[in-house]
Amino acid sequence: MSEQPIFLAKDLVKIYPRSTGQVRAVAGASLEVAAGERLGIVGESGSGKSTLIRMLCALSRPTSGEIKFAGQTITGLKEKQLGHLRSRVQIVFQDPLSSLDPRMRVGKIITEPLRSPWVRGREGVPTDIPARLKEVLAEVGLSSEDADKYPHQFSGGQRQRIALARALVARPEVLIADEAVSALDVSVRAQVLNLIMQIAQRDNLTLLFVSHDLAVVRHLCQRVMVMREGKIVEQGPVEQVFSHPRQDCTRELIAAVPQLNLRS
Ligand SMILES: Nc1ncnc2c1ncn2[C@@H]1O[C@H](COP(=O)(O)OP(=O)(O)OP(=O)(O)O)[C@@H](O)[C@H]1O
Ligand SMILES: [Mg+2]
Repeated sequence: MSEQPIFLAKDLVKIYPRSTGQVRAVAGASLEVAAGERLGIVGESGSGKSTLIRMLCALSRPTSGEIKFAGQTITGLKEKQLGHLRSRVQIVFQDPLSSLDPRMRVGKIITEPLRSPWVRGREGVPTDIPARLKEVLAEVGLSSEDADKYPHQFSGGQRQRIALARALVARPEVLIADEAVSALDVSVRAQVLNLIMQIAQRDNLTLLFVSHDLAVVRHLCQRVMVMREGKIVEQGPVEQVFSHPRQDCTRELIAAVPQLNLRS
């Protein structure tokens, strides 16, 4: 018997009001994500990628449609009923500064998820907090002294590593990354991507990876989903979608990436 999907979303719609009418940021999207799967989400700017994943991790409510996480309907639940999702799903955004408390030292920021009542005691969650902090700092390429500093003392790329360390510290089952490596310089980006890949394979992490970088998506993900104007217009195994795109918008995305063209 096959395992139930970690995410199952049906007919998701998100409408934002605007002074002139409204925006259908997500206009009827249905998807299924298997546990342990690495799924890339690509599409032109404004196609609804961030809106979609924010709904999946219950940071935003759909206007209509239904989302199940690990078999349980999460649409309509109150924040205090979302503990199972909050403890198992972590998200890293493009601009980590907004999600890092400026008054907290980095060590405290990173280990905060380990202190959350939802996370504590869950199987597989590290219990030795100082040891885990040291380990995760090294994994993302930060030094142990960095733990005593404040977020503003770091560059954008370093802050992205802090956000990633925080996301990984409690060994989540699902990592959602929204342009989470784009601010990193090339060598650190490669290091962080390798780390994500390693953890994904070792811990059977489910990865939802939103990126404009199709080469990275091809390297990291097994399946890719292409969004346009709030809809999922194409999806399939990365090799298939990138070598035989069916949609013009997918062809345009691919044409913008020289590395992908050079390959075949
Ligand atoms: N909080 C909001 N209020 C109003 N409109 C929004 C809001 N968030 C997103 N939108 C609009 O919804 C549409 C989809 O935005 P979204 O951020 O999901 O796109 P995206 O695919 O993530 O784009 P990008 O690649 O630039 O990050 C856009 O037209 C955007 O302007
Ligand atoms: Mg976005």
